[in-house]
Amino acid sequence: MELLLLGGTAFLGREVARAALAGGHDLTCLARGTAPAPGGVTLVTADRDQDDALAPVSGRSWDAVVDLTRQPGHARRAVRDLTTAHWVFVSSANVYVEGPEVDRDEGTPLVEPLEADLMSGMEDYGAAKVACERAFAGSGTSATLVRAGLIGGPGDLSARSGYWPWRFAHPVDGGGQVAVPDDPDFPCALVDVRDLAAWIVAAAQERLDGPFNATGPTTTLAGVLAEAAEVGGSGSRARPIPLELLKELGVNPWAGPRSMPLWIDVPGLRGFATMDTARARAAGLVCRPLAGTLRGALATEEERTGPRPSGLTDDEEREVLAAVGRPGRTPSVRRHTLGS
Ligand SMILES: NC(=O)c1ccc[n+]([C@@H]2O[C@H](COP(=O)([O-])OP(=O)(O)OC[C@H]3O[C@@H](n4cnc5c(N)ncnc54)[C@H](OP(=O)(O)O)[C@@H]3O)[C@@H](O)[C@H]2O)c1
Repeated sequence: MELLLLGGTAFLGREVARAALAGGHDLTCLARGTAPAPGGVTLVTADRDQDDALAPVSGRSWDAVVDLTRQPGHARRAVRDLTTAHWVFVSSANVYVEGPEVDRDEGTPLVEPLEADLMSGMEDYGAAKVACERAFAGSGTSATLVRAGLIGGPGDLSARSGYWPWRFAHPVDGGGQVAVPDDPDFPCALVDVRDLAAWIVAAAQERLDGPFNATGPTTTLAGVLAEAAEVGGSGSRARPIPLELLKELGVNPWAGPRSMPLWIDVPGLRGFATMDTARARAAGLVCRPLAGTLRGALATEEERTGPRPSGLTDDEEREVLAAVGRPGRTPSVRRHTLGS
């Protein structure tokens, strides 16, 4: 295929580029070049916030264009300016309205699309992805709309998929305990960046049309933590922390500083991480065992030189473990703030 990838310099885009090259496709990437594209890639540098950014790649007729944007204006101008036989747009589970249900399918109602060309902040993310989907679906050309769940594995700089295996590999003070949310049944899923990338290239080749939920099999937080402990390999054990205590300690859910990743304490979002992926699996999405994804993410964490953007620091981990008491003691809920 003569393939144009709008992106290619970040986490997923770099893997899509690698998969396309490995498949022998003629690949061109377009991005600002904030980070390098993988070796062997032809990178056209342009800023898609500019109206004429796609001019260098608009004179060709592409077999497929893969777009990773989150900005509706980028998607609208791609449809306006490019000639292609097929689109693949990387969308997100955030397109769906909030709901507590696990394993929702592609018929789940969507949030209202963003009218503006640019998001004003991450609170617009779901609406912006819906607006992008509308642009591609309304282009008159077939379009795969890839509604990706949490993406993990090697290169995940967010540390969302790498924190738990890293923490199990590096328990504080050799104490053999890792603080985890006391919510073992919380529904979890993540898709390995390499599996998603391979399927995106296949979707481009096969011209799959319509929306496809794309994440890994639904499991539980306990299941993820057991795999993370195994991958971490230090023999440490999970120490469940009461959710009320986590709240009092100011420990955040999902991602970011002072967080316990992959878990959400909002009842209306309990099923958020999971999706029914029957349609994508029937169309060829194959997900490797979770341990392989966590191993890849751990390798990235071991190479990290700066601060980790998600999870607890060692000091925060010590404070949480100290707050809950020693193993065998009844957990006591105390007034306590991290860092104070
Ligand atoms: N991470 C997750 O767990 C997750 C979950 C669901 C869906 N998704 C979606 O999956 C995709 C992830 O893509 P990604 O990991 O490759 O990275 P990304 O951080 O979303 O960046 C996408 C690409 O767009 C390029 N870009 C951004 N602004 C640009 C501009 N103004 N002009 C030209 N290029 C621009 C970036 O390159 P430059 O900076 O070099 O321009 C980068 O290569 C996104 O669509 C995201 O919304 C992610």
